[in-house]
Amino acid sequence: MCLPKHIAIIMDGNGRWASERGLPRQEGHRQGVKILKKIIKKTSELGIKYLTVYAFSTENWKRPDHEVNFLMKLMERTMASETDELISNKIKINFIGRRDCLAKELKEKIKDVEKSSRKNDRLTLNIAFNYGGRAEIIDAVKNVIDNDLQADNISEDVFSKYLYQPDLPDVELLIRTGGDKRISNFLLWQLAYAEMFFSDKYWPDFSADDLQNAVTDFCNRERRFGGLKNAGDN
Ligand code: IPE
Ligand code: IPE
Ligand code: MG
Repeated sequence: MCLPKHIAIIMDGNGRWASERGLPRQEGHRQGVKILKKIIKKTSELGIKYLTVYAFSTENWKRPDHEVNFLMKLMERTMASETDELISNKIKINFIGRRDCLAKELKEKIKDVEKSSRKNDRLTLNIAFNYGGRAEIIDAVKNVIDNDLQADNISEDVFSKYLYQPDLPDVELLIRTGGDKRISNFLLWQLAYAEMFFSDKYWPDFSADDLQNAVTDFCNRERRFGGLKNAGDN
């Protein structure tokens, strides 16, 4: 059976979803969390092993203070209300991103949930929060230098061990909702050979069936990784 091992999602369009309904942008973010729960459930039911979702980028600090504050609180509240269920469903939860500038309470919650879910193995859920692909690469370079690695000993495999999640496999399927076709600084290293699936739906309108369609679409693609079609025929 064809299944991508690692799906990554840029959950975009919450604000526009709300504005089109005459609602404050915050409502879009609240609705977005509800949809995320459904998508996590579906991902886990399908038997996919890794799901990485983009919740807050290193560039999202540019938004008005009230929206940034709301998103920080929403993450804290969502963790308080949802993690028990995720953990009982055998989901391992990791956060990727820069933690230093997050509020102390949030940092503590992140640590707690990572610790209490670390033995779970049904699905690994990575929440990209205060995450930037370039920041991740720079942090990895610093880590390499701090560990006194010599240039001759650095390969792609070695370097990837210094990223936020050393054992994270490459993304096979990237989904972006909201109609835009760009990466917005997400997982630059891990997306090298990902198949891209862009949906015009806003994230709060995305459904389990849409996820299924994206997976089916992925399974019909021909992946060549720089090689030739039907490699091995000659
Ligand atoms: C994505 O939705 C969620 C975050 C970036 C936190 P947006 O808030 O970017 O929604 P749009 O793109 O403005 O509609
Ligand atoms: C990407 O969405 C970040 C998240 C979904 C968290 P943005 O709305 O921030 O991306 P741009 O600004 O349209 O590129
Ligand atoms: Mg957006």
